[in-house]
Amino acid sequence: MAKKINFDKVVNRIGSDSMKFANLQERYGNEDVIPMWVADMDFKSCKKIIKALENRAKEGVFGYPYNDESIYNSIYEWQKRRYGWSIKKGSISLASGVVNSIAFIVQAFTKEKDSIIIQTPVYHPFARLIKENDRKVSANSLVLKDGKYKIDFKDFEKRAKEAKAFILCNPHNPTGRVFSKEELLKLAQICIDNDVLIISDEIHSDFLYDGLKHIPIASLSKHISKQTITVNAPSKSFNIAGLMTSYVIIENKKLEDKYKKYIKKFELMDNNIFGTLALKTAYNGCEEWMDEMVAYLQKNRDFALEFIKDEIPLVDVIKPEATYLLWIDFRKLGLTPSKLEKFLITKAKIGLNNGIIYGKEGAGFARLNFGTQNDVLKTALKNLKKAINEFIV
Ligand SMILES: Cc1ncc(COP(=O)(O)O)c(C=O)c1O
Repeated sequence: MAKKINFDKVVNRIGSDSMKFANLQERYGNEDVIPMWVADMDFKSCKKIIKALENRAKEGVFGYPYNDESIYNSIYEWQKRRYGWSIKKGSISLASGVVNSIAFIVQAFTKEKDSIIIQTPVYHPFARLIKENDRKVSANSLVLKDGKYKIDFKDFEKRAKEAKAFILCNPHNPTGRVFSKEELLKLAQICIDNDVLIISDEIHSDFLYDGLKHIPIASLSKHISKQTITVNAPSKSFNIAGLMTSYVIIENKKLEDKYKKYIKKFELMDNNIFGTLALKTAYNGCEEWMDEMVAYLQKNRDFALEFIKDEIPLVDVIKPEATYLLWIDFRKLGLTPSKLEKFLITKAKIGLNNGIIYGKEGAGFARLNFGTQNDVLKTALKNLKKAINEFIV
């Protein structure tokens, strides 16, 4: 594939209403800190998306939207082409965000005090939304062995006997794990045996490295699909998270009716015209852009892994099979989570996510977002090396 897009070009995001780049002084006490936390990327989106949005903006009329079949078709085609999943027609509902969709699903399908399984350390809004909805977090800790996170199936099975739902994060944030077909089949079978609803968050499904292929859990069998609600979005893949457009796939008519009835209560039936236009344009015309971007990210990942191994031996790093998130193990520094965060901000001048927010297993870890220009990543890692060298003398 010929290289066409210049992902090396630094984009100034300060002053662009970006969560990641806003209020650096207030957040870090220093404007020099490189923000590498919240999961969006520092690249401009695909040109075709930008053009389509420009053209729509020029129309100047932004009335209520109408979603014809073309938006659903673009999602069917994407799922089929990218992951080999032929979704039953009529089983897609548009939504604004993946996280708020999961919150609605939790409300619609579980009751107060019900247990919901998550695999910690995991994307922190899962535990938050479970608790905010007065449900109970059932934490099936992933086990770190020889640099790779594995599932404790015995513990999962025990928890499934009590739980009503399981929020699967695949690919897994923050560990970067891509669960294998065998692992997914095993998880699904336990959920089926115990009638646990699988809520599968597959938002990172386009960022797989080393030739790995994403497997939607619901695509594994009709039986599994009947037990599953899948949530996905083009927001990470095309860097359009601010357009608040995602989708929910439910191939089980009974579950679908229940979900739709619940959503209707809140009159949540419309979508943003810019978001749906971006989704369609992305899935229909930006695949090459995305493949090039993922190849760039793989180079960033490999660079970071090598740099840390060669230059910062006091720090361990988990090799992500997917996502643009690097889960770094700083435990050898012996710092508490708050001291580690302070050290990274004040000494290394990098703003990472504190590992502890993902669960107790994340104590001593931090998550670095490498969805950025290679030069920015290099500077961040050089800063880290210097800070650690000074720490140990
Ligand atoms: C696993 C996972 N799910 C969901 C989201 C956010 O999705 P949304 O912005 O659509 O709510 C993120 C963002 O980082 C994520 O990592």
